[in-house]
Amino acid sequence: MIRVLFVCLGNICRSPMAEAIMRDLIEERGLTSKIKVDSAGTSSNHVGETPHKGTREKLKEMNISTSGMKARQLSTSDLDFNYIVCMDTSNVKNTRDMLHAHDNTKIFRFLDLTPHKKDVPDPWYTGDFQETYELCVEGCEALLERILEEKGLLYPCYCTRSQ
Ligand code: 4NP
Repeated sequence: MIRVLFVCLGNICRSPMAEAIMRDLIEERGLTSKIKVDSAGTSSNHVGETPHKGTREKLKEMNISTSGMKARQLSTSDLDFNYIVCMDTSNVKNTRDMLHAHDNTKIFRFLDLTPHKKDVPDPWYTGDFQETYELCVEGCEALLERILEEKGLLYPCYCTRSQ
């Protein structure tokens, strides 16, 4: 099982948005038995809360489920995840500090996978959940391609096809 963790500050706006989009993409591609997705926040401020109304409304509009999602704080056991995908530079730093994993390349900034190579702006401050959604879709598509390539899952039919 390949495990992906999205990280932001509060775990109510950006990382749940990315988690729900990534899960939806994985379902669409028939990969639910291979890839699991979760999210966490570096702060404890919103632990136990459902995603922010802006995130829930945008995802509902796009027919993507947020059912059962509750904010939690990052913990040291999260270092077990294969990909720890952070929404901005400060999330990368705080995640590396909290997980005592300073040289760990599995902790990286989400949009470094895309041509944007920038932080996902925080809609908690900008109010722009449409921007968050669009950047998360781009990031998730790039992340899924990266995972499929790295884990040798790109052309599964070649493995089973008889010659
Ligand atoms: P998130 O957004 O990190 O994308 O979940 C935030 C949520 C809450 C706060 C800041 C950012 N806050 O300061 O409470």
